[in-house]
Amino acid sequence: MLAQLQELLDQGRASAAALTTAAQLDEWYSTYLGKKGALTTVLRGIGSLPAEDRPQAGKDANTVKVALEELYRARSEAIEREALQAELASGALDVFLPGRPASLGMMHLSSQTLREITAVFSRMGFGVLRSPEVEDDNTNFQLLNIPPHHPARDMWSTFYTDQPGLLLRPHTSPGQIYAMKKFAPEPFRVILPGKCYRYEQVTSRSEMMFHQVEAIAVGENITMGDLKGVLTYFARAMFGSERKVRLRPSYFPFTEPSAEVDIECYLCEGKGCPMCKHSGWLEILGSGMIHPQVLRNGGYDPERYSGFALGMGPERIAILRHNITDIRYFFGNDLRFLEQFA
Ligand code: DAH
Repeated sequence: MLAQLQELLDQGRASAAALTTAAQLDEWYSTYLGKKGALTTVLRGIGSLPAEDRPQAGKDANTVKVALEELYRARSEAIEREALQAELASGALDVFLPGRPASLGMMHLSSQTLREITAVFSRMGFGVLRSPEVEDDNTNFQLLNIPPHHPARDMWSTFYTDQPGLLLRPHTSPGQIYAMKKFAPEPFRVILPGKCYRYEQVTSRSEMMFHQVEAIAVGENITMGDLKGVLTYFARAMFGSERKVRLRPSYFPFTEPSAEVDIECYLCEGKGCPMCKHSGWLEILGSGMIHPQVLRNGGYDPERYSGFALGMGPERIAILRHNITDIRYFFGNDLRFLEQFA
C-alpha cells in the first residue's frame, strides 16, 4: 500500500511540473484528486486490507492527499503568475521611452502681419469689424460712388458669380459701408481686415487671393491732418521711425481728395533701383477723405460729418519688410518659406 501511494505521489509530482495551462491543471486535478481519480481508487483499497494495517494505510493515504493538494495549489499559483507575466510582457508600455516631439505650429506670415497692423491701429483707438467676402455689386461699387459702366470699375479686376450682381470682393472698401451703417450717426473708427479676390494673372507681384485691411474714421471735424497723423504713426510703427513717408495725390472714386502713401525704398534708400522702379519710393497703401456721397450712402450728413479711409495689403507690407521677392510664396504652402517666420 505504501509503495503504491509513494508511486502515486512521485507520478503526480513529475506530471505537475510539466503543467503550463489552467486546463491542464484541471485535468491533473481530476486524474489525481478527483472523485474518480487515482487517490480515490487507492483509498477504496484500504477496506480490503487486514484490520490492523488499516490505520497506518489511512494515515499514509492522507499524507499523500495533503501533498498532492499542496502540489496543486503551488502549480496553480505558478501558472497564474506566468500568465500575468506573459500578459504584461505582451502589452508592455515602456514608460521610459522618450516621447515623440510635439510639432509646434506657428502663425502664417499674413496672420502675423495682420495682428501687428491690428495692434498698431488699436493703439490709436480703432476697433475691428468684419464684412462679407461674397459681396453685391451695390455695396462693392455703387455705394462707393462707382456707378455701373463707370470706367473706374476697371481699377478692380473682379470675379463675378453666376448670380447677377453677386461677386467676390476685390477690395475691403465695401466694409466702409457696413461700418457706417452700423454706427450712424455716431462717430467711430474701425479697421476691417479680410480676404480679397482678383481676376488677374498670377505673377510675382499679384495673387488671385490676398488680404486687405481697410481703416475708416468718421466724426465731426475730422481733417486730412488726422489722416496724415494716423498714416505717419502707422508707417513709423511698421517700418521704423527713420523711414521717410510721403503722400502722393491720387484718384479713388470713394475718396476726395485721395492720396497714395509711399515709403522710402529700403533697398536703395531713395536713390532709385529696380525694386522701386527707379523712383526711390515704394507704394504701401491708398487713402483719402471720404467722398460726401459715400458718407451720405452710409447714413451721415456730409455737412456735419467728415472722415477718412485707407486700404492696404498686409502681404505687400510683409514683402517690403522682409525683402520677399514673390507674393506667390505666401499661399504656396512651402514650409521652407513659411518656417522662416516662425
Ligand atoms: N480699395 C482700394 C484698393 O483696393 C484701396 C483704397 C484706396 C482704400 C483709398 C481706401 C481708400 O479706403 O481711401 O485699391
